[in-house]
Amino acid sequence: MSNVLSCLGLSTVGNVQTCSKLITPSAHLADGLFFVRIPPLIFASTKKAAMSSSSENLPLPAQINQLIRSRRSVFPDQFRKDISIPDDIIWQLLENANWAPNHKQTEPWRFVVFSGEGRKKFASFQASRYKESAGEKFRQDKYDKLLNNPLLSSHIVAIILKRSTTVNIPEMEEIAAVACAVENIYLSATAYGLGGYWSTGGITYDPAARTFLGLEGEDRLMGTFYLGMVRITSPGGKRGDIKEKTIWVKE
Ligand SMILES: Cc1cc2nc3c(=O)[nH]c(=O)nc-3n(C[C@H](O)[C@H](O)[C@H](O)COP(=O)(O)O)c2cc1C
Repeated sequence: MSNVLSCLGLSTVGNVQTCSKLITPSAHLADGLFFVRIPPLIFASTKKAAMSSSSENLPLPAQINQLIRSRRSVFPDQFRKDISIPDDIIWQLLENANWAPNHKQTEPWRFVVFSGEGRKKFASFQASRYKESAGEKFRQDKYDKLLNNPLLSSHIVAIILKRSTTVNIPEMEEIAAVACAVENIYLSATAYGLGGYWSTGGITYDPAARTFLGLEGEDRLMGTFYLGMVRITSPGGKRGDIKEKTIWVKE
């Protein structure tokens, strides 16, 4: 069994290790063969991470353009149910989330990750909360989806805004920082060939979720990110013309 994160050419820059040569683009797991794209990896140490701002070894602009524009939401019914994403890769996604821009260095993102049997806890909580609160609007298909989607997924990440109690900063700026962190997850998942999407359904606006996830004070649940190995890819995206959304003042 090979380790998907194994690599040659490990080098250290400050306290960050970079892996430049990759052994394999595939990984064998006990329950079958699957393929995860392994781009050059960056491992941050457990200490306060520091990255050089040098532009050496960065992906080319054309590669970043392609990554950003080919990112698509992939939903749980498009996931493979039989295999999980290795936790090491989930850590890479979260590490990239941790590098999001944020005003006054509050780093306001927090995550609760549900995997393995933990997915059942999340699934039964969100399905039972729906049942309790839906009243006459209850729909069996919606209940089933809330129960089944987490189990179709490999990992579910609750996205939490941890409001700073020490720094005076408008909430909007911390919400924006968390959204940047989530985009980093989206893009990293795309780079690894994984599927995922940001959901603001389920328990997102349910006050009971606060206790379930340990939220305090002005913290907010900003949704959940479902992740899985892709079984069915999403259709290409569509966007309106950026020129119609931009005013450019040149003189
Ligand atoms: C803040 C936010 C909340 C979202 N919530 C949901 C949701 O609750 N359900 C859903 O199906 N998709 C949700 N999405 C994903 C969008 O449906 C998806 O981004 C959109 O259809 C564009 O597709 P793309 O991500 O493939 O470009 C959300 C996206 C964002 C940014």
